[in-house]
Order: sequence, then structure tokens, then C-alpha cells
Amino acid sequence: MSNPIVRVENIVKTFPKANVVALDGVSLEFEAGIVYGLLGPNGAGKTTLIRVLTTLLRADSGYAEVGGVDVAADPTSARTLIGLAGQFAAVDDYLTGRENVEMVGRLYNLSSSDAKQRADDILRRIHLSDAADRPVRTYSGGMRRRLDLAASLVGRPRVLFLDEPTTGIDPQSRIDLWDIIKDLVTGGTTVLLTTQYLDEADQLADRIGVIDNGKLIAQGTGNELKDQMGGSVIELHVADDVRNDAIEALAAVSTEVPTFDQYHSSLRLPAPDGSQTLLNVVRRLDERGIAVQDVALHKPTLDDVFLTLTGRGAEEAEAESEKVTTPKRRGPRGRSN
Ligand SMILES: Nc1ncnc2c1ncn2[C@@H]1O[C@H](COP(=O)(O)OP(=O)(O)O)[C@@H](O)[C@H]1O
Ligand SMILES: [Mg+2]
Repeated sequence: MSNPIVRVENIVKTFPKANVVALDGVSLEFEAGIVYGLLGPNGAGKTTLIRVLTTLLRADSGYAEVGGVDVAADPTSARTLIGLAGQFAAVDDYLTGRENVEMVGRLYNLSSSDAKQRADDILRRIHLSDAADRPVRTYSGGMRRRLDLAASLVGRPRVLFLDEPTTGIDPQSRIDLWDIIKDLVTGGTTVLLTTQYLDEADQLADRIGVIDNGKLIAQGTGNELKDQMGGSVIELHVADDVRNDAIEALAAVSTEVPTFDQYHSSLRLPAPDGSQTLLNVVRRLDERGIAVQDVALHKPTLDDVFLTLTGRGAEEAEAESEKVTTPKRRGPRGRSN
């Protein structure tokens, strides 16, 4: 790539006391003007990479630059290019939304009237004008996230880092934030966002990197990642008591391996030649007298991609991480344990 705005080369970050390798040789780069989506389950290393790129944390080894600036060698210059909105909104509850944004403006050495002007602009762009004069303690979770984003925009960053911007907020606020992010990118800002949600990466990101256990395990556009799956996927539901018979029948008509997706309680079979395989499947199940509750042939989704790459579904990875109350490194897991 001729002029990447973010370049990461072989970054390693360990936390020796916790015996954790948070980043295990991550490399990626992307050009200005896009949304890069870093997709991975809890504990994958997303926040650690963001902290390295935003100069909050030093890597053990490797190289990272933002806007051509080496973040380790020249963090002060790097910071002038960067905006960061974290997973937990850092705003003052007792000030109004407007006062919060103006205060950040003053921290950037803007005059009082410039800070007011800038706050006004930004509050409009993030759909907070109406609530701007209410104290933040009356805000919903989604509004706090937007206000945190507002604060990160005051310095007019070239690259905006958003760490799980929509985790834990309601669906309507989520869609609202998606629109705001799209508008920012249209206005020329480059965005790196992290997410645990496949649909979010699919919706927003021009390029996606899949991270798991501190390693980037795949990169591409949503479509490229889906194409790696090759062809379509047959998904079908049968009653529990005939599931094993059905798996046997599927295996008999295809060289592909059928799998049982616990989360959706469906059987899945990759179907490189699409409808021909589907026909064979339906015929075979009918011959065996196995009743099918429903069957569908669909293009692989990012869910299928994640399942194939990591050996577990996204919801499963998420459920797994919710059980972990103390920060702890997950070992590699198969679908069986
Ligand atoms: N300050 C820290 N000390 C010890 N371990 C940490 C620290 N920060 C992160 N980790 C560990 O590093 C791994 C990656 O964490 P993180 O980057 O926060 O993942 P993600 O943001 O993808 O959920 C996890 O195992 C986490 O527990
Ligand atoms: Mg995180």
C-alpha cells in the first residue's frame, strides 16, 4: 500500500504478571477515508491494540504508525492526529452535554467563543442538540456514548478510534450511532472501530480484520471473507430425535462435513454447488423418512465465516466471555468443550 494512514507491523504486547500474550504479532494497514473494523470476541486483544495505537500503551516489540507518525517515537505528534472514544464513556455527570464538550475545547486551548461554536457544531452532528443543556446524569447509555464521541471530535482528528462504540446500548441508539459514524467518514474522517458484532462489521466496515487470541486470523472486505467460504450453506432444522440420522444422510450426499450449530439448533452443510446439493439433501432425507422442519440455502454470513475461522460461533464466544468475571486468557477451544 502506498500511503497507509495506519500501519501496524508485528506488534507484540504481553502482560507478564498476568501471564497473558494480548497481542501476538499483529500486522495490518489501511488507507485513509475508510472504516476499518476489528472484529473479535471479548479478550481477543482489540482494546490493547487501540491503546498501543493511541499512545496509551507501549508495545513490547513491533512498529506502529498513524498518519505517518511513529506512535512510540513521537507520541506527542501522534496525539494531534488521533481521537479516541472508549468502551466506557468518560464524561462529567454533573455538567450538561454542552458544558462537557466546551470544556474539552478549552483543554484544546480554544477561545471561549470558539469552544462554544465547536461544541454547537459537534452536538448537532451527533444528534444531541436537543439534550445539550441537560445534565449528563439524565442521559441514556446511548446518549453518553454519543457525548463521548463528541469529546473525541473536538480536536478534529484525522483518525478516530472507536472501541466497541455500540456494546451495551439499545438497538435504536446503535443504528443512530451507525449513521453518525457513516456521516463522519463521508466528511473525511478515517475510523478504526472494534466490535464483537458481525452485523456491525458487515454494515460499517470497508475492511475487516478478524482477531482472536491476539492474532489476526483473516482480513478482507465482508464479501471477500464470505467468498473464502466458497459457495452457499444449507441450513436445516429437524427434530432432536432424528438429528443423528439426518447428519448421516447429509454426510452421504456430500464430501463436505455437516455440523450442528448449537446456538441456532440447526444443521449446516457447505454447498459449493448450491441448489444441486440442496436437491440431493432433500431427496435423501425424504427417502430415509426424516421430516424436515425447515430448510434454507443461504450465502455464507459473517457468522459462518467466524464459525469456520475460530471453530466457534460469535454468540458462543460472547457467552463464553460473559462467564469470565476476572480478566483471564482463554485457551484455544474447540466446539466440543
Ligand atoms: N492491563 C492488563 N493486565 C493484564 N492483562 C490484561 C491487561 N489488559 C488486557 N489484558 C488481557 O489481555 C487480553 C486482551 O485484552 P483486550 O485487549 O482488553 O481484549 P478485547 O478488547 O478484545 O476484549 C485479555 O486476556 C485481557 O485479560
Ligand atoms: Mg475491549
